[in-house]
Amino acid sequence: MPILDAHSFEFISRSPEQTRRIGIRLGSSLQAGDVICLSGELGAGKTTLVQGIAQGWGSLDAVTSPTFVLVNNYRKTGGFEMNHFDAYRVQNALEAEDLDLTGMIADGPFLVEWAERVKSVLPEDHLWVNMKYLDEEQRSLLFIPHGKRFEQMIEKLRMNILKGLE
Ligand SMILES: Nc1ncnc2c1ncn2[C@@H]1O[C@H](COP(=O)(O)OP(=O)(O)O)[C@@H](O)[C@H]1O
Ligand SMILES: [Mg+2]
Repeated sequence: MPILDAHSFEFISRSPEQTRRIGIRLGSSLQAGDVICLSGELGAGKTTLVQGIAQGWGSLDAVTSPTFVLVNNYRKTGGFEMNHFDAYRVQNALEAEDLDLTGMIADGPFLVEWAERVKSVLPEDHLWVNMKYLDEEQRSLLFIPHGKRFEQMIEKLRMNILKGLE
């Protein structure tokens, strides 16, 4: 169980569309250097959330699951890019080091599924999202921000949801 602190925020999503809408909100404020870590079992909704994040960021490319290719690269106008990494097949931190995560993080927002597998090579500042299957249509999304920037991002998300914008 993650340690719950004052900055963490849990949201129960009731549909894939709702998960995507949350993603859109997050994605719209992402920039190079931002790291979003997604954790949760197969079918928890990690890729679905990434679809929303990429849409909110302005991706011109469709999001697919990078389980077999490890990394998908998305572009938007202006030459900006975003990398979507699936660490499912990465066995250890050493293997992850070979992938030049630092370079990918510098290039644009960096989204990583199965982040717990490469935790030791990820930067201290990041947004951790624990996703959990509740039932067919419901997922729990627990946002755990690390660092001021993500604390503010999650506080804003929480306020928007409380104001009924979701
Ligand atoms: N509330 C929800 N949020 C996200 N996905 C949901 C939700 N309800 C049902 N689903 C479905 O669960 C599946 C999640 O798959 P996916 O996003 O690929 O998960 P993961 O990447 O964690 O394996 C999709 O088929 C999606 O339509
Ligand atoms: Mg996935």
